[in-house]
Amino acid sequence: MITEIKKDIYWVGAIDWTIRDFHGYSTYEGTTYNAYLLKDEKTVLFDTVKKSKMSDLVHHIRSLTDPQKIDYIVVNHVEMDHSGSLPEMIDLIKPEKVICSSMGKKALLDHFHREDWPYEVVAPGQVISVGKRSIQFIETRMLHWPDSMFSYIPEEKLLISSDAFGEHWATSERFDDEVDFTTLMQHNAKYYANILLLYSPLVAKLIENVKKLGLQIDMIAPDHGLIKRKHVAEILQAYADWANHKAKKKAVVVYDTMWHSTEMMAKAVADGLMREGVSVKLMDLQVCHRSDVMTEVLDAKAVVLGCPTLNNGLLPRMAGFLMYMRGLKPGGKIGAAFGSYGWSGEAVKLMNQAMEEMKFDIVHEGIRVKYVPVHENLKECVELGKKVGQAVKAALGE
Ligand code: FEO
Repeated sequence: MITEIKKDIYWVGAIDWTIRDFHGYSTYEGTTYNAYLLKDEKTVLFDTVKKSKMSDLVHHIRSLTDPQKIDYIVVNHVEMDHSGSLPEMIDLIKPEKVICSSMGKKALLDHFHREDWPYEVVAPGQVISVGKRSIQFIETRMLHWPDSMFSYIPEEKLLISSDAFGEHWATSERFDDEVDFTTLMQHNAKYYANILLLYSPLVAKLIENVKKLGLQIDMIAPDHGLIKRKHVAEILQAYADWANHKAKKKAVVVYDTMWHSTEMMAKAVADGLMREGVSVKLMDLQVCHRSDVMTEVLDAKAVVLGCPTLNNGLLPRMAGFLMYMRGLKPGGKIGAAFGSYGWSGEAVKLMNQAMEEMKFDIVHEGIRVKYVPVHENLKECVELGKKVGQAVKAALGE
């Protein structure tokens, strides 16, 4: 169903109810690929959809206009979930212009190898008129691809924000005030933690830039999830907080275990953290998806890692998680590690190395326990948890 989001501006995208994995990010509740149609003296389509969802996009457009009446296609972002159907859409529409950033043109050529498309490269800040309205293009390079940009329609106070400010969540509702706000922000945090966290310094600059430009925004229309019209200020503030690594009195104890020894240690570490009044998430990688762990890591001040030693190294799930977390560059974390071992016991050293690379403040040298912990070992783990908890409170000024 199409939705008019502002006068003569429509959501014409597609809802993907069944996708459950987005290159390693779990999407338990699907996603949407949002595209928007503006009808003014010029008719403009902002972004397209994944190739497999093109029929939904065309069906939605046809209920408003003949696709051949579209004058411009704006490509805010070239990733395939927004451009996969572009070749067929260009064949169908035959637009006067395909508007993109300079990096966008390069990416389009590298993806589709079509020199003959009517590219119109726009400079950062450039404004074009489409009739009663205008579109200003805001370059958002590396948020999260080199080609990324926003389209801002000042007359409508509308920011079409590409991947930023969105979430993977398939819903029949289109607006933020039609869904539960807490659930919305959980999805939004997951998106930031798994897609944008590594670009936090650029997000912080962008938020500053938007303030400096004095853009009036009363609606943010992202390329995934809900359109924000009620919670614009809250979303912008959440992004500013995440970009600045603002953390809560919270720790994530993330672990894997072979014969439950490391699990016993994890529970004791969590006990110590709780004794210090720190909120704890105990996350076993055997049952918690890496992208859900990262969502909890986003606003936690401490991350404590637990893993036994296997073949002189780490269990594969912990090794994979560390690779994933390292890529996302969480900032300002306190850390420590623990784990059981049989004879060589390298896991704690390897986890400490990984945390050093991520510039964690490691507040304990780590605890290794041979085979199965006894009460005394678990007491040491409780003390480790307390030490991390005290460091969290000190860092937060308590
Ligand atoms: Fe939703 Fe970066 O694509």
